[in-house]
Amino acid sequence: MSDVLNEMRVLLPSQSVNEAVARRVVTAFAMQTDPTACELADIKTAVSEAVTNSIVHGYRGTKGNIEIIMRILEGDIFYIRVKDRGCGIKDVKKAMEPLYTTASEEERAGLGFAVMESFMDSVSVRSTVGKGTCVTMKKRILSRSLVRAGAAEDERH
Ligand SMILES: Nc1ncnc2c1ncn2[C@@H]1O[C@H](COP(=O)(O)OP(=O)(O)O)[C@@H](O)[C@H]1O
Ligand SMILES: [Mg+2]
Repeated sequence: MSDVLNEMRVLLPSQSVNEAVARRVVTAFAMQTDPTACELADIKTAVSEAVTNSIVHGYRGTKGNIEIIMRILEGDIFYIRVKDRGCGIKDVKKAMEPLYTTASEEERAGLGFAVMESFMDSVSVRSTVGKGTCVTMKKRILSRSLVRAGAAEDERH
């Protein structure tokens, strides 16, 4: 496993307002990797989908905590884990299929996992019915290495 260069853990109760709080906290932590606006937007969107899922599906009709662990890994990799102790998912493979939703009456599009997968480099989901769900995502932040490569290039000229 890559070395952990920095880490932050946050525990938020499952109020809907905390989706926005999570996005802001993640932004504050991710800034140290010097992401482009686009990379940051991707991370924020993916995190927002995972946290929203914990609130609306995991803790449907109940309340609980959402634990968010963020890490900066060696190699400019942003790592995030969103964990709830909610109802869990019976069939993770099916849940991750685009357009699959168990909340169509609420006009949910069933695209949350698809969004996470397209905006992050990797997404893995572990879930146990009655115990909860844990979504782990990683994204390589390219801008910094590009800037460094560019600077080295400039020095040569
Ligand atoms: N944290 C979670 N706890 C319980 N079920 C979840 C969780 N996250 C996702 N799911 C299940 O996976 C389905 C697909 O999720 P998603 O792709 O985000 O679509 P949507 O949220 O629009 O339904 C959800 O409808 C729900 O049944
Ligand atoms: Mg969703």
